[in-house]
Amino acid sequence: MMAEKFDPGNAHKLEDPQRLVELPPATVVDLLQLEGAETVVDYGAGTGMYSVPLARALPHGHVVAVDAYAELLQRLQAKLDDALRARVQVVHTEADRVPLADGAADRVLLITVLHHIHDEPQALNEVVRLLRPGGLLVCIDFGHMDRPVGPPKDHVLTTAAARAVLAGLGLRELAVHEPGTLLRYHLAIVSEKPA
Ligand SMILES: C[S@@+](CC[C@H](N)C(=O)[O-])C[C@H]1O[C@@H](n2cnc3c(N)ncnc32)[C@H](O)[C@@H]1O
Repeated sequence: MMAEKFDPGNAHKLEDPQRLVELPPATVVDLLQLEGAETVVDYGAGTGMYSVPLARALPHGHVVAVDAYAELLQRLQAKLDDALRARVQVVHTEADRVPLADGAADRVLLITVLHHIHDEPQALNEVVRLLRPGGLLVCIDFGHMDRPVGPPKDHVLTTAAARAVLAGLGLRELAVHEPGTLLRYHLAIVSEKPA
């Protein structure tokens, strides 16, 4: 299956408040297992629906919000007050390069992003490069199921396919939450970069 490119004209869909009911930020924060001083890369952050609550969960840490579309990141930036601005670094990627050192991230979040980049090795390699050994990747994506929300079933990965992509990157799987368990319409996979 070829990945569908995200259409930035759909930015308003990212902002739908119903998303926060189906995919509560508190659940995302729990999956990331934060203590509050970590550096978290939100890869494919879009308009920052999750970057902002993440920054609030990191009073002594940082969020690096990465996206390929400057217009989405502008919306994200508009949501930051002075306190949050000090803890959120916004990075517009070109050619999938993020100007951070190898292993700079304690956590990487891919939230409804894997189905866009699963066949883009440069982006996937950048995700793994940024994660420190022993760091966690939390991947949440739409379940391969009939749903009233999100892209059609055949535009997203099955749980088995998502697990295979992550394993293929050398990540060690720690937990798999099938759609309809932890989250109603989304799967969640927690993986670790081996030390
Ligand atoms: C469905 S949106 C999700 C946005 C955000 N994570 C959220 O849940 O609100 C997918 C995002 O991935 C971004 N994206 C897709 N391919 C990318 C790439 N190669 N590098 C960086 N961002 C990418 C898109 O621009 C878009 O913002």
